[in-house]
Amino acid sequence: MAGNRTFTMIKPDAVKAGHIGAILEKINAAGFRIVAMKMTQLTTQKAGEFYAVHKERPFYGELVEFMSSGPIVAAILEKDNAVADFRELIGATNPADARPGTIRALYAKSVGENAIHGSDSDENAAIECAFHFAGTETF
Ligand code: RTP
Ligand code: MG
Repeated sequence: MAGNRTFTMIKPDAVKAGHIGAILEKINAAGFRIVAMKMTQLTTQKAGEFYAVHKERPFYGELVEFMSSGPIVAAILEKDNAVADFRELIGATNPADARPGTIRALYAKSVGENAIHGSDSDENAAIECAFHFAGTETF
């Protein structure tokens, strides 16, 4: 059965460009409830741990540098079928392939600087939520 929570980060490019408000509007309008949220900046070590699954990929170094380059907004979102529905809302990794109206189609600059993260499975959603938030920060 699909779980009801996913984890997201508004990435440094979108924060820098002033898109936090517009992106949160889209998230609310799509029926997600924000159950945890904070603005923070990842160290290179934290960014490296978060994306450790991509350690062997050629873009890993750039990804870690980018994700630690400025503040992000991290949040836990709740909705039926949260992981899959949120991946639909954000669109394809490469904004050139993202369906019109998706967050990446609207706000991402490139495949590397693509505005927003969304968990890719219920299992990873649970790991990522716990990576960023204590139980006392989740409502
Ligand atoms: P995310 O984990 O951030 O939600 O993105 P995703 O599932 O759509 O894509 P994934 O394959 O997990 O890649 C993680 C992030 O790495 C950067 N990337 N750069 N230069 C490249 O070819 C490349 N490919 C991926 C992106 O920031 C991507 O979101
Ligand atoms: Mg991913």
